[in-house]
Amino acid sequence: MEEVMKSSYLVKGGTPLTGEVEIAGAKNAALPIIAASIMTDETVVVENVPDVSDIRALLATIDSIGGHVEKIDRHTFKINGSGINRYAPVDNKYVKKIRGSYYLIGALLGKYRNAEVALPGGCDIGLRPINLHVKGFKALGADTKLISPGRIIARAARLTGAHIFMDMVSVGATINVMMAAAMAEGVTIIENAAKEPHVVDLANFLNSMGARIKGAGTDVIRIVGVDSLHGTEYSIIPDQIEAGTYMFAAAATRGDVLIRNVIPKHLECFSVKLTEIGCQIEEFDDAVRVVATGRLGTTTVKTLPYPGFPTDMQPQMTILLGLSAGTSIVTESIFESRFKYVDELTKMGAVITVEGNTAIIEGVERYMAADMEVPDLRAGAALVIAAMAADGFSELSGIHYIERGYEDFPCKLRKLGAEIQVVRTEEDRKKFHFVHGH
Ligand code: EPZ
Repeated sequence: MEEVMKSSYLVKGGTPLTGEVEIAGAKNAALPIIAASIMTDETVVVENVPDVSDIRALLATIDSIGGHVEKIDRHTFKINGSGINRYAPVDNKYVKKIRGSYYLIGALLGKYRNAEVALPGGCDIGLRPINLHVKGFKALGADTKLISPGRIIARAARLTGAHIFMDMVSVGATINVMMAAAMAEGVTIIENAAKEPHVVDLANFLNSMGARIKGAGTDVIRIVGVDSLHGTEYSIIPDQIEAGTYMFAAAATRGDVLIRNVIPKHLECFSVKLTEIGCQIEEFDDAVRVVATGRLGTTTVKTLPYPGFPTDMQPQMTILLGLSAGTSIVTESIFESRFKYVDELTKMGAVITVEGNTAIIEGVERYMAADMEVPDLRAGAALVIAAMAADGFSELSGIHYIERGYEDFPCKLRKLGAEIQVVRTEEDRKKFHFVHGH
């Protein structure tokens, strides 16, 4: 009988990526936008929704609490929240797996003044507290408490606008408080707000539903609460991190890739670093081309909130610099455990020393193929890049992490010439080796 294995990616490295790739809608914008869609009883149409497992989990969660979700096509959904049971706890197997489910707290609190939501999951990249979200909800007048089994309750007789200073720049807290405040009474000011493109996209979306939000994309967001929101049609921005991942994949494999359907402004921090280490970057209105010919140079990178270098691109950057000529330094300043993948990369011959939140990278000429375990979403994508840049066959298990946030990852890579396949059985592996040589 055929032995059935869990899915993994089998990769034969060594081929430079060439051609064109189309970027999907931004996962981290789609999550809050889909959550906020239930803040009106009217129908909302959301376009350019990425087909990734985190989004499917959120849509299933909305369906499970009485929201109506209709799929128009692969990337377009009609959502109607009028049937939502405002008193039912949001608690199912999906909620605990994804981070974005906590956006339902802000959405339900704003709309119904009542939210009971299971604590969120997400990638294990360090402690991920939600104290700033809670602080913001409390400032708006909500009572919040944690109850067993791992749920947060937020309730308010009245939600009243407030002046809120975020102690740290937090994407999630800025978004969650912005949603609740959109339907509070009076004016809310969020200071030290996150400025990520997805914060701006959510504000634009809420404004298209009748909210009155100004300043998103700056440190200070001003929200005038409204009584109700209405239906809208909205198209999600392209995914900054997916685009960045393909840019770095092109660079690591010494390829030539045109990355289409992007907002080049959102990719500036990548373009600048890639240029600095010797890639050629060409910017178009909605595309960017990355060309790398020889071995790349070194640099120093520190992850920071937008417009700084994003933590979600830190593993891809480290993996690229692992192939550079000389020593590079990467400092992670957002999450404390985001270098777990370095152990896997070491199997490929990378020479990286992690001291606290800093990685000291001595570039090697080539990576060697290896079998690896994916530790989280972005590190997983980065390890695939390493495998594509290595000589020989690598196998990556734990690919469900990658499927959380990258639509059609192996398929898009294959179109760029990569030799990569999802394998489930020993037979699949044999076929791959047969087709791609030993
Ligand atoms: C979002 O996470 C993204 N997730 C993450 O992407 C991304 O890495 C992160 O922002 C930073 O850009 C989603 O959008 C679903 P934060 P989030 O609140 O909102 C601390 C991916 O791979 N903090 O900006 O959870 C926190 O510990 C994922 O797509 C508090 O102390 O991140 C961290 O050090 C991984 N208290 C820093 O703030 C809080 O209440 C920034 O976290 C909240 C956060």
